[in-house]
Amino acid sequence: MMDYMLWALMFVGHLAIWCVIFNRIHATALPRWFRKLTEKLIVVAVLIGFVWFAYLMFFNGTISVETIVNRFFFSGVYLSTNLLAGVYFALRWGYRKFIAERPAELSASATEVIDVRQLNDNPIYVGPLAKALELVPGNQSHLVAIERKTLALPGVCESLSGLKICHLSDFHLTGQLDIGYYTRIVEEVNQFDADLVLITGDLIDEHECLNWIDKVFGGLQSKHGVFYVLGNHDKRIKNEPLLRKMLSDSGLIAVNGRWVTQGINGVDVAIAGNELPWFGGAEKLQPYSKSVDDVDIELESGGGTEPAVPNHSRPFKILLSHAPDQLKWAQGFEFDLMLAGHTHGGQIQIPLVGPIVAPSRYGVKYASGTFMMEKMLMHVSRGIAGDKCIRINCLPEVGFFTLTAVDR
Ligand SMILES: [Fe+2]
Repeated sequence: MMDYMLWALMFVGHLAIWCVIFNRIHATALPRWFRKLTEKLIVVAVLIGFVWFAYLMFFNGTISVETIVNRFFFSGVYLSTNLLAGVYFALRWGYRKFIAERPAELSASATEVIDVRQLNDNPIYVGPLAKALELVPGNQSHLVAIERKTLALPGVCESLSGLKICHLSDFHLTGQLDIGYYTRIVEEVNQFDADLVLITGDLIDEHECLNWIDKVFGGLQSKHGVFYVLGNHDKRIKNEPLLRKMLSDSGLIAVNGRWVTQGINGVDVAIAGNELPWFGGAEKLQPYSKSVDDVDIELESGGGTEPAVPNHSRPFKILLSHAPDQLKWAQGFEFDLMLAGHTHGGQIQIPLVGPIVAPSRYGVKYASGTFMMEKMLMHVSRGIAGDKCIRINCLPEVGFFTLTAVDR
C-alpha cells in the first residue's frame, strides 16, 4: 500500500515539475515558435515519463520503490526527485485548499451562468477547431459566468462607494467562436450599467476579425469610459498602430504606460496600464500625481466625465495589467485595485485539484480569483474565451464589481 502511495506521489511530482517548466516558459515574451516547440517537447517528456514509470513498476517483478531506486541509479535519482516534488506539491495544494483564507475584502459574491449557445439563434462554435472541441464531453466554453462581487477596500471613500466596475478579459477574437457570442456578452455588460468598463488584454488573435472590433468593443457602454491594455495574443496582429487606432475609433481608451484620470463624484479615479513583458510602456510610468496631461486626456475621452475639479481627497488607483505577474510592480505604485487576465483560470480544472497549467511565473497560484496583496486587491479573470475553445470546470467569466467603503 505504501509503495502505491509513493508511486502516486512520484507521478504527481513528475507531472508537476513539467507543468512548472511549462508555466514559466509561457509567462515570458520568448518567441512564439520557441514556446510552441517547448510545449510539444514537454508533452513528449511527460508521456515518456509515464511510460517509463509504468515499465519500472510492472516489468521488474516488484513495485517496491526502495528496490527499484537501489537497482537503477539514474532512474532512482529521477524517481527520488519526483517523490520530493510530489510531497511538496501535495502539501502546497492542501495548504491552499484548506488553510489559506479567502480575502475578507471580498465581502459578497454571486454567480449567474448564462448559456450563450442556447440563447443565440445562430451556432456559436463556427470554426473547424471549435466545432471539434464542442464535441468534447464537459466542454463549457459557451456557459458564461456573470460574477457579481462586492469589494470592500480601504482605498474606497464614501463618495466612491457603490462605484460599478465591469472587468472583461481575454476575448480572443479568432473566428472560431461566432461574433454573436461576443455581442451577447456585450448586451449583458450594458445591462449592468457600469461606471467603468476595464479590459485586460488578449482582445484579438486573427487579422480576419479586425472588422469585428467596432461591432464588439464599440458596443460597450460605460458612464466614465471603456479602458484597455493589450496582451500577448494581440501581438499576432502585426500592425499594432492600426489595431490601437481601430480600438480608439471604437471609443476605447488606452492606458498602457500612462495615467488617465476620471473625476467621479468629486474623486479622482486614476487608471494606468501595464502590458509587460509583451509590449513596452509601463517601464516609463511615473508615480501618480495630478498633472495637466491628465486633464487633457479627460477632455479628450469625454463620455460623461465630469470636468476636472481640484479636490483634496485621496485618488483611487486602478491598474490594468494583462498578466498577474506584474503584481510586485503594482504594489510599488500603491494601486488600490489591480485587474488582470491571461491565465484563463487554467481553462481545465481538475475536480479537487484545480488548474495545473497557467502561463505565469507564479504557476497556478493566481490562475483566477480575488487576492488581497497587503493593501492592494488583485482580481484575475478567467477571461471570456481562449485561442482554443475548451473549458472544463472553468467557465468563461464576466466580472461585475461594486466597490464599498470600509473602515480601517
Ligand atoms: Fe488570453
